[in-house]
Amino acid sequence: MTAHETALADLDALEAAGLSAFLGAASAPAVEAARIEFLGQKQGRVKAAQERLKALEPAAKRAYGQRFNAVKGALEAACEAAKIRVERPASGPGGLDVTLPGTPRPRLGHRHPLSQTADELLDLFGRFGFAVARGPEVEDALHNFDALNIPLTHPARDPLDNFYLPGGTLLRSQTSTVQVRVMESQPPPVRVVAIGRVYRPDAVDATHSFMFHQVEGLMVDKGVTMADLKTVLRLFAESYLGEEVKIRFRPSFFPFTEPSVEVDMLWHGGDRWVEMGGAGMVDPNVFRAVGYDPEEVTGFAFGLGIERLCMRRHGLDDIRPLYHNDTRFLAQF
Ligand code: PHE
Repeated sequence: MTAHETALADLDALEAAGLSAFLGAASAPAVEAARIEFLGQKQGRVKAAQERLKALEPAAKRAYGQRFNAVKGALEAACEAAKIRVERPASGPGGLDVTLPGTPRPRLGHRHPLSQTADELLDLFGRFGFAVARGPEVEDALHNFDALNIPLTHPARDPLDNFYLPGGTLLRSQTSTVQVRVMESQPPPVRVVAIGRVYRPDAVDATHSFMFHQVEGLMVDKGVTMADLKTVLRLFAESYLGEEVKIRFRPSFFPFTEPSVEVDMLWHGGDRWVEMGGAGMVDPNVFRAVGYDPEEVTGFAFGLGIERLCMRRHGLDDIRPLYHNDTRFLAQF
């Protein structure tokens, strides 16, 4: 091979090496490194190939010069193409399309309105000095009925009004079960609230569901009176629903309280009373069932429906969307 032929072969190798370097460069720094290696003004390999021209026979210079110019042009073009390529996103044949919608921001979830209500109630009653108590949703007749002074013949035990389970248990129909559980496990004084699900085979409509939530309150001490009960419920209603809320107490009957009341709140629009729950002074028989001395202590208890409180607070007229998990509804709270 003559020196001239060797020089031309080296130009071919230079071109191949340069093209593959620019094609393989995946980032702007990599393209820049390849540019310096091949096209650098001082020590680039193209520059070196140009220097070689001087040493060639005059007759060979023309062919070498032409080939050199072609190689240099090809590498400069490859360098420009590589620069543009690494600036674009990898996807899409057309590169960056600025009219495409951006990457959606991830949507933040939040707590369900009923959970929010439950949290706020616990917080409010906590400030009134009530500790949090809990009890199971699957209960026995002792806690759901017997200890609550509900006689064996009472209609509240009717299978049509309860979800009985095999083995003598049932899904609790009221959170008053937690009153019994708390008093069995500690001596007076007691000041607790319990929040939880209760189950009743009710037909579903705008204000009823076969499962709903109650907040149960119980205060037992020496000298607790009906005035304390009314004060706590009024303060609670004003704190949670606003000072302009109107509530009223109606005489009622529950086997586990005496006297008993039903508590109503004036519904939004102000033309209708809706029941918020039941309350009363703990019946002496309940104290006896848990080993408290009714001559020593008195107490009040209340059980309020959380869904209705949530509905009254947010101006809702239908309980059902609270259970449907439609995020278009839930996202509003
Ligand atoms: N447990 C009653 C109900 O679910 C409400 C209630 C609770 C009444 C405490 C009096 C005292 O209807």
